[in-house]
Amino acid sequence: MSDTTSTATDFALSASHITRRYGAVVALADASMQLRRGEVMGLVGDNGAGKSTFLKILSGAVIPDGGDIVVGGSPVSFRRPSDALEAGIETVYQDLALVDTMSAVQNVYLGREELSKNPFLRLLNVVNDGGMRKRSREVLTELGVGIQSVNVSVKGMSGGQRQCLAIARALLWGRQIVILDEPTAALGVRESAQVLELIGRLRDHGVSVILVSHNMQQLVQVADRVTVMRLGRTIATRDVADITPEGIVGLITGAIPADVSTPEDSATIVH
Ligand SMILES: Nc1ncnc2c1ncn2[C@@H]1O[C@H](COP(=O)(O)OP(=O)(O)OP(=O)(O)O)[C@@H](O)[C@H]1O
Ligand SMILES: [Mg+2]
Repeated sequence: MSDTTSTATDFALSASHITRRYGAVVALADASMQLRRGEVMGLVGDNGAGKSTFLKILSGAVIPDGGDIVVGGSPVSFRRPSDALEAGIETVYQDLALVDTMSAVQNVYLGREELSKNPFLRLLNVVNDGGMRKRSREVLTELGVGIQSVNVSVKGMSGGQRQCLAIARALLWGRQIVILDEPTAALGVRESAQVLELIGRLRDHGVSVILVSHNMQQLVQVADRVTVMRLGRTIATRDVADITPEGIVGLITGAIPADVSTPEDSATIVH
């Protein structure tokens, strides 16, 4: 599908015709997405449709075989996750990389500790503990994340609090784009609601979000648009205001025709 009214620079991220094989398996046959600034884009599809592979390519964890990615108007070619981080894309995986024995503040700053402002202490690699604690508290308060203290270890935190903490970390470090792969899959109703609310707040901060979810009810609550994948292809994009959860499921299963012709469609056409 071509977009004739907008150019790539209007988008936070634009991915076109991405392909990726694993041996004989075609994980991505042709995946495209235009992510607007400050929108939540849902990404849906059946198991094995290629959602996680697409996200991993956008986060630099997997290198595509073909296709183009433009971030903030500039073409990019990610070879490793740090390339995507540098371009302002932060990814929160379902199995969060939080360290149990560390505190909330240590987790927020994991691997990116701020050095002390004192030039002599900086030479000794002494970190700016007070500054990091203050900034962590500010971000968590700004986002409305209820954590009693940023100094206690995350071991005792609930799944929802941990997910919120990881998203807060994303906001602190990657302000433009946040990628979330099934963030509520392991959470209960209340905790899921908390995470969804937090995603809304990210959007309020002007962050663009890509959200993979199998829960259509949740998705329509929080997403502005939804992109549907089938067999490694992005087959339709809809405004959430124009579609019901049942309509999305219809696009996923093929009960509702796709915007692009797919191999299964052409196989069923008999002349
Ligand atoms: N590292 C890999 N090696 C081989 N095949 C892979 C690899 N990663 C993904 N695949 C294959 O690529 C296809 C797409 O997988 P992917 O994980 O992207 O799907 P998904 O849409 O995220 O599915 P789910 O909803 O189950 O998470 C599947 O057929 C999968 O088996
Ligand atoms: Mg997946």
